[in-house]
Amino acid sequence: MIQIKDKIYWLGLKDWELRKFHGHELSTHRGSSYNTYLIKDKKNVLIDTVWSPYKLEFAQMLEDEVGIQNIDMIIINHSEPDHAGSLGYIMSINPNIPIYCTKNGADILRKFFHKEWNFNIVKTGDTINIGDYDLVFVEMQMIHWPDSMMTYVKGANLVFSNDAFGQHYASSGLYNDEANTCELYQEAIKYYANILTPMCPLIKKKIDEVIALNLPIDIIAPSHGVIWRDNPMQIVDKYYEWAQSYNENNVVIIYDTMYDATKKMAEAIGEGLEKSNIKYKIFNAATTDRSDLITEIFKAKGIIVGSCTVNNHVLSSISALLDELKALKFKNKIAAAFGSYGWSGESAAIINKKFEDIGFNVVVPPLKFQYQPTAEVLKMGIELGESFSKSM
Ligand code: FEO
Repeated sequence: MIQIKDKIYWLGLKDWELRKFHGHELSTHRGSSYNTYLIKDKKNVLIDTVWSPYKLEFAQMLEDEVGIQNIDMIIINHSEPDHAGSLGYIMSINPNIPIYCTKNGADILRKFFHKEWNFNIVKTGDTINIGDYDLVFVEMQMIHWPDSMMTYVKGANLVFSNDAFGQHYASSGLYNDEANTCELYQEAIKYYANILTPMCPLIKKKIDEVIALNLPIDIIAPSHGVIWRDNPMQIVDKYYEWAQSYNENNVVIIYDTMYDATKKMAEAIGEGLEKSNIKYKIFNAATTDRSDLITEIFKAKGIIVGSCTVNNHVLSSISALLDELKALKFKNKIAAAFGSYGWSGESAAIINKKFEDIGFNVVVPPLKFQYQPTAEVLKMGIELGESFSKSM
């Protein structure tokens, strides 16, 4: 337990080994942490719990630091099992603890645990006094679950933001000023790109709403990764920027290939971009971690995707990637498609059509070519790159 403000403590667990999250959907190369917090005011208040595999370790920490029988209330900012997973075990030890959460939170907890606990429903602006401090609740519906909320500690100028502003990042320190800034921002933007992109419009609106409340904020304490105490509003400013058609004015070229013909074309297109002084990166979708690819696409202004044709379709890594871009509601990118083929040659047109379904602006016609590209055909790739650059 580490004190982060008068009477307020971090009581979390660092998971240095974690490499996959949400089942196997999201990669977590730098581990993660489950941050819970304890306020020892006139009332003992626990903010969130940890993922259920750690319930025994967590319960022991609570016993050592406060005693589960002495907890006066539990705030559940979010019911997803990485935060509420240990609630069942804690409540089995002391079933009378009042739980404060949103209405949607109570509905979800009932469906996860099949228990009727002492739920106290809170809404935006509701305030409870716990002694020297007041807790003020702010609903964050669909950022990123229907139940999500934040808890602001009036008097401590601290906000428990849960998933928002978090990172899947285990590090030796507790605070942003103790972490490696490059790693921290890489994990923060990866978290945003892979989890929060569909909610961009809601996030911008919510930040506007919270800023209008004019609450003093000294610390933003998320439920994953480091706590923002050095210029905490920097991450709010970043979220605001990321929520509004963010890009770093570069291009990603992503391909999958069977006999390197499509790979050669990817490189030729890169050559065309380079001639036009456009920064680019090239990735093979089949061998690159998909969560990292999504992050790279999030940062790019342009996306150029290629696949050879197989069974009148595209290779499976490309198909899966394009489906995910659609599901994540990626918008405001310029795009182009390419691919080799043997006889039927549908791949580039399929990618092009998928771009249109996603809502990307296709700025050059799809380029397809048979079998291995000649120097003349590769020149068409260079020209595609140059032509694409004109839309950057
Ligand atoms: Fe939405 Fe960290 O769980």
